[in-house]
Amino acid sequence: PQPTVRSDKGRVTATLPTGDSVEVLTYGATVISWKSGSGQENLWVSEAAKLDGSKPVRGGIPVVFPCFGPPPKDHATGKLPQHGFARNSQWEFLGKSSSESGASSSKADDSVTLDFGLSTAQLSEEAKKAWPFDFGLVYSVTLGKGRLQTMLNVRNEGKTSFEFQMLLHSYFRVEDISRTETRGLGSVTYVDKVLNATEHQQTDPNVRITGEVDRVYKSIKIDTTSIVEGGQPRLDITRDNLEDTVLWNPWIEKAKGMGDFEPKDGYKKMLCVEVGAVEGWQKLEPGDTFEGGQIVKSHV
Ligand code: BG6
Repeated sequence: PQPTVRSDKGRVTATLPTGDSVEVLTYGATVISWKSGSGQENLWVSEAAKLDGSKPVRGGIPVVFPCFGPPPKDHATGKLPQHGFARNSQWEFLGKSSSESGASSSKADDSVTLDFGLSTAQLSEEAKKAWPFDFGLVYSVTLGKGRLQTMLNVRNEGKTSFEFQMLLHSYFRVEDISRTETRGLGSVTYVDKVLNATEHQQTDPNVRITGEVDRVYKSIKIDTTSIVEGGQPRLDITRDNLEDTVLWNPWIEKAKGMGDFEPKDGYKKMLCVEVGAVEGWQKLEPGDTFEGGQIVKSHV
């Protein structure tokens, strides 16, 4: 059996013979579902998320580019909205490619890649005016047995250099946040956005979430951040050519304040672990490319 790929009305789905599946909206190239072969969903999507292209999706994996958070007013991205334009632009599905196992390798090596493209020409007039650079993005989503890889390739198609940040705003699904912790962030310096953007050092190697968390961990030396539930490994998130990771959980009050966050106690079922390059800016010269992303392994 071969992987099956369907593209219909702005949604692309891929399923492997192992039962693993992924679903991506062309709006924002947002991954909105990733299930392991066991049927277990690995991503959290709000029940009130807009999936009709009217608003960035509250859940799944929105792509953040070319700025993270509210951009500084004195930077070239200064007129863009929070998290930039990639997550609310209409991308193009460029097609699939699959790697099938030969006679010598096992079925477990099978994977399928879905490519999505976004370039200057596809932007809204508003976004083009706010950030007048020629760029090309290719976002590749690769589904394998028990794993999902998402890579963003950024190319400068223009005649002047530009600066950008990028981040994959993954909302991971957990059973019970009170039994959840992350590992792999010990000894890292982070900016705490809840505590007036002050800098701290992560002393405990295990981070437990017991209230609102909004932290930017910078220049992380260990490549993998793991989500552990009840002492059992749940998800391993490995950075590829990226050094930063944002940890976010809105908790009670912030969840209440978001109209598209449902159910209101959904914060108990999610944790955002967002890999990116958000410390300072990546500068790209004309004709140059940058590629960064993540490989996520599910243990269930
Ligand atoms: C996180 C930021 O990445 O995204 C938070 O660190 C922010 O500060 C969160 O609240 C959600 O952002 P938005 O724009 O999707 O509501």
